[in-house]
Amino acid sequence: MKMKKILVTGGLGFIGSHTVVELQNAGFEVIIIDNLSNTKISVLDKITEITGLKPEYHNIDLRVKEDVKLFFNNHKIDGIIHFAAFKAVGESMQNPLDYYENNIGSLVYLLQEMRDRKITNFIFSSSCTVYGQADQLPITENAPVKTAESTYGNTKQIGEEIIKETCKADNLQAIALRYFNPIGAHESIKIGELPLGVPQNLIPFVTQTAAGIRKELAVFGDDYPTIDGTAVRDYIHVVDLAKAHIAALKRLINKENKENFEFFNVGSGTGTSVLEVIKTFEKVSKKPLNYKIVGRREGDITAAYADTTIANKELNWQTEKNLEEALDAAWQWQQKNKE
Ligand code: UD1
Repeated sequence: MKMKKILVTGGLGFIGSHTVVELQNAGFEVIIIDNLSNTKISVLDKITEITGLKPEYHNIDLRVKEDVKLFFNNHKIDGIIHFAAFKAVGESMQNPLDYYENNIGSLVYLLQEMRDRKITNFIFSSSCTVYGQADQLPITENAPVKTAESTYGNTKQIGEEIIKETCKADNLQAIALRYFNPIGAHESIKIGELPLGVPQNLIPFVTQTAAGIRKELAVFGDDYPTIDGTAVRDYIHVVDLAKAHIAALKRLINKENKENFEFFNVGSGTGTSVLEVIKTFEKVSKKPLNYKIVGRREGDITAAYADTTIANKELNWQTEKNLEEALDAAWQWQQKNKE
């Protein structure tokens, strides 16, 4: 059988790069588009070192419609995994228009090209942020989508709506994966998360604190109604998350999807508090972590973790790694990237 050609937008980013590796491992031919707005070109060489295969790469800004068209004029694509987007919550509130232009504009241009060229298979990076503070835990796919707390979150909700409507109007077959909190790094420790500046997310802040780059970790709130008062999240190893994309893509290629537009929760299924993360990290790194409790962070929810029953069954996918392994990989990655 001819190798399927998959376009991965944002394929040099954190989740994108891990997904490219898994796609190549699964026998897909990968073409990456990435404008390097939040990553480095060296990731391409690292992917090549891991798999022994250099993916085709194009530095294209998906906001430039003519460039997108030109790319599709020159390439025959069997499916698209669309990661390219801005993802900083705070920044999205300060620059909403930039977020809408980048996250929504690019999506529309891609879908137009897909329609015009009859490309049907599309996987979209969505987020558990669409559920807000869910009324019931764990969160199933039946939980209602709540009014977004941030512009970033809104771009994910609107993105899903655009895709859903396109699936009704055209022959698009799409799956949105609603990620919980992706962490960790590839076992080769050649690729991982590259946060620019002061990290906003918990795990990079933890590893940078342990490495001495940050003085101490601020734990945002210990008065939540949870097991120890700190907020609870569902941390999933990025390699497990990457594999969910391969499973979703195969579902579309093999025409096993039950509806033209589907969405699945992709998490570990386990809720972990901030203090539990710290304890597990200390065990893995064998280092005490300098932290102090401060007030809650505005906009944070109390608890979110996934019910993955539907994803496990429909995607025929399960997580294979636990929190310790994810934190261990994140810590090794941090030590390798000292700056
Ligand atoms: C954040 C985003 C969310 C996005 C997700 C992707 C916000 C408000 N939400 O979610 O939209 O989809 O990342 O991974 O930014 N914490 C600390 N100290 C820190 C950093 C974090 O205590 O220095 C706590 C937070 O309060 C939270 C937990 O750690 O309870 C996880 O935080 P974070 O990694 O930022 O993820 P989310 O808030 O879940």
